[in-house]
Amino acid sequence: MKHIYLDYNSTAPVRAEAIAVMMDCCQNICGNPSSMHHFGQQAKQAVDRARFQVARLLNAPPSQVIFTSGGTESNNMAIRGIAARSRGKKQLITCRSEHSSVLNVFKELAKDGFAITYIPVDANGLLDLNALDEALDDTTALVSIMLANNETGVIQPIKEIVEIVHAKGALLHVDAVQALGKMAVDVMDLGADLLSISGHKIGAPKGVGALYVRIGCKIEPLIFGGNQESRLRSGTENVPGIVAFGKVCEFVADNLDSEIAQLRQLGELLEQAILENIPSAVISGAGALRIPNTVNVSFSGHESDTLMMMLDMKGVAVSSGASCSTGSGEPSHVLKSMGLSQELLYSALRLSIGTNNTTEEIIQAVDILRQVVSG
Ligand SMILES: Cc1ncc(COP(=O)(O)O)c(C=O)c1O
Repeated sequence: MKHIYLDYNSTAPVRAEAIAVMMDCCQNICGNPSSMHHFGQQAKQAVDRARFQVARLLNAPPSQVIFTSGGTESNNMAIRGIAARSRGKKQLITCRSEHSSVLNVFKELAKDGFAITYIPVDANGLLDLNALDEALDDTTALVSIMLANNETGVIQPIKEIVEIVHAKGALLHVDAVQALGKMAVDVMDLGADLLSISGHKIGAPKGVGALYVRIGCKIEPLIFGGNQESRLRSGTENVPGIVAFGKVCEFVADNLDSEIAQLRQLGELLEQAILENIPSAVISGAGALRIPNTVNVSFSGHESDTLMMMLDMKGVAVSSGASCSTGSGEPSHVLKSMGLSQELLYSALRLSIGTNNTTEEIIQAVDILRQVVSG
C-alpha cells in the first residue's frame, strides 16, 4: 500500500540538504563551540553561519537570533522571559486559539499571580482587535498572538496587532512556527518584539528552533549554565541540528516564492476536490486569509478519530486535531474558540500538505476521503 502523508503541520520530512550538512557536521566538526582551539572555533563558525542563514530568512540581525530546542522552548522563553522582568506589570494577554506551548505557559504564570486576559476570536478565527485595544492598559507586560494557526492555517493581522499593542506600551510575542516557509516572515516588517520558529516544521530535524529577540528587548533566560547564546540559552549547542536548520532556512529563503506557489496550487486542488466531491464538507476559517497548505474540514455525522483511523488504514495520514493533543478525546480548542457547532467540532480533520506531495497524491487522497465519508 502506498502511504500519503498529509500531516506536514505536525512535522515535515527532513530535507536532503539538511541530512547532507548534518552528516558532514557529525563526521567533520567535533569541537565544542565554546572551546578556543581550532576544533571549537570550527564548530563556532558553523553555528554562526547557521545563525546568519536563519536571520536572513527572518530579515533579522544575526545577533538577535537565539537557538533553542524548538517552538515550545522558544515560546516558553519569550513569555516567561518577559514575565520575569515585568516589574509590576501583571497583565498578560493572549487568545484561546493559541498553541498549547503558549496557553500552558500562561496557565502556569496565572499561578504565580499574573492576570491573564483571553481575547476572543470570531467565527473565522480572527482576533477581535477592538477587544484587544480595550483590554490593554498600563499594567500589560506582554501580548502573545500567533501568526498562522496550526490547525486552521488562519493568518492573524500581526501588523495591525503590533500597532495596537505598542500604542499601549506593551510588547508583542509572535508564534510564527506554522507560518515559516508558508508565507513571508519578516520581523522588521511585522514589527514584533519576539518571534518563535521551529526547525522540524520546515524540513530540519526535530529538536532545534530559534527565538528572535528585537534589539533592546530584554528577557530573562529560562536555562542557566555556561552562558551560551548571548547568555540567554545556556547549554552546549546542538551543532548538527543548528547547521541543518540553517541550511534549510537558506534553501527556503532562496526558494520561498516557488515553494509558496507550489503549496498554493496543491492546497487549492485539495480544497476544491474536497468541496466538489464531498457535499457534507465544511471548511473552517474559509472566510479568512490562510497559509496555503492547511485545510481544516468537518464532515457532519462522522467522528474525527474514526475518520482519521479509517484513512490511516487506507494509507492516508491526516490529523484529527493538534497532533500534541490527539488522543485526549477532547475536541480541538481552536475550533471551539471559533464557536463551531458540536457536529462540526467533533467531525473535524486537519489536512496539511508539503512540497513533497504530488497532484496524484492529492487526487488519490480525496478519493479515499470520499469513500470513507460516504462508506
Ligand atoms: C503554532 C505552534 N507553535 C509551537 C509549536 C511547538 O513547536 P515544537 O514542536 O518545535 O516544540 C507547534 C508545534 O506543533 C506549533 O504548531
